[in-house]
Amino acid sequence: MQTLVVAGARPNFMKVAPILEELTRQGHGAVLVHTGQHYDASMSDAFFTDLGIPQPDFHLGVGSGSHAAQTARVMEAFEPVLLQVRPEWVVVVGDVNSTLACALVTSKLRDAIGAQLAHVEAGLRSHDWRMPEEVNRVLTDRLSDLLLTPSEDARQNLVAEGIRGAHVQFVGNVMIDTLHRQLPRARERALSERLGLQRHEYVVATVHRPSNVDSASELAAIFAALGEIAVEMPVVLPVHPRTRKNAERFGLGDSLERLHVLEPLGYTEMLSLVDGAAAVVTDSGGLQEETTVLGVPCVTLREQTERPITITEGTNRLAPWPMSPETLVETCRGAIRSGRLADDAARPEGWDGNAARRIVNALSASRNRPSVTSDEQARSGV
Ligand code: UD1
Repeated sequence: MQTLVVAGARPNFMKVAPILEELTRQGHGAVLVHTGQHYDASMSDAFFTDLGIPQPDFHLGVGSGSHAAQTARVMEAFEPVLLQVRPEWVVVVGDVNSTLACALVTSKLRDAIGAQLAHVEAGLRSHDWRMPEEVNRVLTDRLSDLLLTPSEDARQNLVAEGIRGAHVQFVGNVMIDTLHRQLPRARERALSERLGLQRHEYVVATVHRPSNVDSASELAAIFAALGEIAVEMPVVLPVHPRTRKNAERFGLGDSLERLHVLEPLGYTEMLSLVDGAAAVVTDSGGLQEETTVLGVPCVTLREQTERPITITEGTNRLAPWPMSPETLVETCRGAIRSGRLADDAARPEGWDGNAARRIVNALSASRNRPSVTSDEQARSGV
């Protein structure tokens, strides 16, 4: 079975690593395409080195741009690669612009080259169409022949959209495969000690969503809250390039003085830091899941989450909305007080380190199944 796997941006790399490894372990062909949506060494190369991901077979080098420009550049660059490789499967993961761009290209060449499209992390929904990721998620799912879900809520979301049947399969959370594999190395790194922090006595914060960092008032409110928390407990903030640029543009540099500001961290360094934290404050999707598995309290800087299972079966809570520095500080204090989950407490089903095996088994089992046809969609009510 020849499979083409797409990765484009930072949150994709920890998802494709175990899939590539499992494809190879089972003796299947794997071709890796890196779109180049993320390109800084700290946003891309560091993850390849850390996670032992092989060099991409194709690097599209698309870089940054408006949503339209970035998506269009990925599509233009991906089409000839797909025509050259002609895989049985194209696997896209997550919800970034590269995910949708490659899904669109694959769906239009499906019949011509016989490639099918599989989406890993299918079915997640924030129900907030202002998020570019929500558009990417919904459209990618609509185009996919095989929808591989991480949780029961994801399946229910698909059913509510009329997508059901054998092409929807529960596989669990593949990012957690990487977490389980890397945790021993992360613990050896003991990053908190190297930063002079006491284990379980510091907060880790990340913020990069456009809704939080593209507005001066939102970003100022978040930095003000983090500054308040830092009076009680050290706050470490690895800064995403988008956030750094905006903080400079809005003249908010001074409000970072109380925080331990770091460059973006590699995977195991970040895991090491989060594993030792008293709490995490974040707008990242991946960190909501990782903190749930690590048992670390998490405050999500969002109005809603497409990962509700991290609240119902994990350690996550949403910041009160609309967000203000006062309510955010209070919520963080509550999260720290709530304490960490015991190591042996239950975790969401399928977040067990074996998702990649289930993904590759699903690809193998579905390889000769005809693509989803319009008839089939009509029957399932799409
Ligand atoms: C993208 C994803 C988001 C994900 C995030 C993780 C989309 C729509 N968004 O957002 O879902 O949570 O990645 O980081 O795909 N930049 C650099 N160097 C880089 C990459 C980006 O400096 O290596 C800067 C550029 O100024 C760029 C900006 O960050 O314009 C935003 O990058 P972009 O890829 O458009 O989106 P992210 O905000 O990273």
